[in-house]
Amino acid sequence: MKFDIVIGDITKFKADAIVNAANRTLLGGGGVDGAIHRAAGPELLAECETLGGCATGEAKITGGYRLPASFVIHTPGPVYRSYKPEEAARLLRNCYVNSLKIAEERGLKTVGFASISTGIYAFPLNDAARIVAETFRDFASQAASVERATMVCFDEKTADAYRRAFAALEN
Ligand code: APR
Repeated sequence: MKFDIVIGDITKFKADAIVNAANRTLLGGGGVDGAIHRAAGPELLAECETLGGCATGEAKITGGYRLPASFVIHTPGPVYRSYKPEEAARLLRNCYVNSLKIAEERGLKTVGFASISTGIYAFPLNDAARIVAETFRDFASQAASVERATMVCFDEKTADAYRRAFAALEN
């Protein structure tokens, strides 16, 4: 499994699945969650309403509807201030691992991730980036169908944090 970082709008990102920074209701919200629901159209919410929510760190998959992506994997990240730092880190790691596991179960090849919890949920960006880089490195050895995981960053600051974290893996 290769991983890379791009700057862009995840609602326009063409991949088998994109990973949404959801909340536990799965009924949409602000930030990237709101953008994905707006771009996907009302059928996305209609499907989400059948899922009964999702626990923090868990993940659920739906269709992509009007999005270029075929599927959306929804994962509620930790609200940083609600947990001890090590618990927040564990839950954030679970968001990425559980999303990748769902992609593997569906035999998906390409997955684009929003930067989970580093917006409204205020997870410190550099810490999140280090966790994600380590999680992708650790998952790569067990990935059978996922060929590429991409961090789709909305701004340069976010992309730079992930670039530095992934580069630090090499050293
Ligand atoms: N494409 C890619 N990334 C985006 C986009 C977009 N169109 N819009 C926002 N982002 C980025 C933000 O800049 C941030 O880096 O997504 C990252 C996650 O930020 P949030 O969307 O605030 O998500 P999060 O911090 O996980 O908070 C989740 O916000 O939107 C609500 O319903 C959601 O309650 C939940 C909470």
